[in-house]
Amino acid sequence: MKVCIVGASGKLGQYMVQHALDRGYDVVGVCREKSAGKLARFAGRITIVPGDTNDREVVRRAVTGCDGVLTVLVPWGMNHYASGTAQAVLDCAQPGARLVFSCGWHITRDGKDVYPSKLLWFVKVFGTVARLLRLVDVDDQVEATRRIFASDTRWTVVRGSDLEEGESHGLPVWSEHVGDAVLESNRTRRIDFGLFMVDALTNEALVHKAPAIVGCRTVSALAHARQG
Ligand SMILES: NC(=O)c1ccc[n+]([C@@H]2O[C@H](COP(=O)([O-])OP(=O)(O)OC[C@H]3O[C@@H](n4cnc5c(N)ncnc54)[C@H](OP(=O)(O)O)[C@@H]3O)[C@@H](O)[C@H]2O)c1
Repeated sequence: MKVCIVGASGKLGQYMVQHALDRGYDVVGVCREKSAGKLARFAGRITIVPGDTNDREVVRRAVTGCDGVLTVLVPWGMNHYASGTAQAVLDCAQPGARLVFSCGWHITRDGKDVYPSKLLWFVKVFGTVARLLRLVDVDDQVEATRRIFASDTRWTVVRGSDLEEGESHGLPVWSEHVGDAVLESNRTRRIDFGLFMVDALTNEALVHKAPAIVGCRTVSALAHARQG
């Protein structure tokens, strides 16, 4: 399997590179030119296509021949970076390719998510301040996922909980909606977020789903498992 990782140099991106290599996949990584050095430890094992992730020509070159594309969706700046990145991947990936995108719990597909008030407050305050400072445009990440949900590609949108570093606990568990009891702990190891993204490439059950994930060893996940 040949996979492209769009946004390979970030924290999540680097974990995905490692998981994909562990599975024996051919890996192509897209990252900003100035960030290519962050992928130095993978030198000789992956192909790097330097450039902005919303640059269609960069993305077109990188995804050529790829069976799967893993995309880190981030709402940096006020230039439609997230929606531009998503659109480039949707348009340029080869027909039938598995497309897996990352975002946070704040994204909703059907409006049936029930959010902790802390998260609602954080998104509102952070989103407003970051937008005023022209640093981050959360609305553009919402637009990016709206386009993905509306597309007829073989997509999955993985919605991450709060993240932490640390060694792997294994594949996170997931649920359709934030607010479901299994997700209550709201904590996932970043390395395992990456694992879920890479695993989704070959999980047909996740096509056209927006799983919200949580660590498999968290209190809420373990309680759910005990209930069977
Ligand atoms: N952080 C959290 O707590 C959290 C929680 C839930 C979900 N998520 C989701 O997890 C994913 C990635 O998270 P992460 O913590 O791994 O993020 P990260 O390490 O900060 O990396 C995110 C990506 O953003 C790029 N980036 C950073 N600054 C940029 C800029 N000014 N312009 C353009 N691109 C820029 C990075 O590229 P460079 O390497 O070139 O800088 C990298 O590809 C996102 O989809 C996010 O929505 C995060």
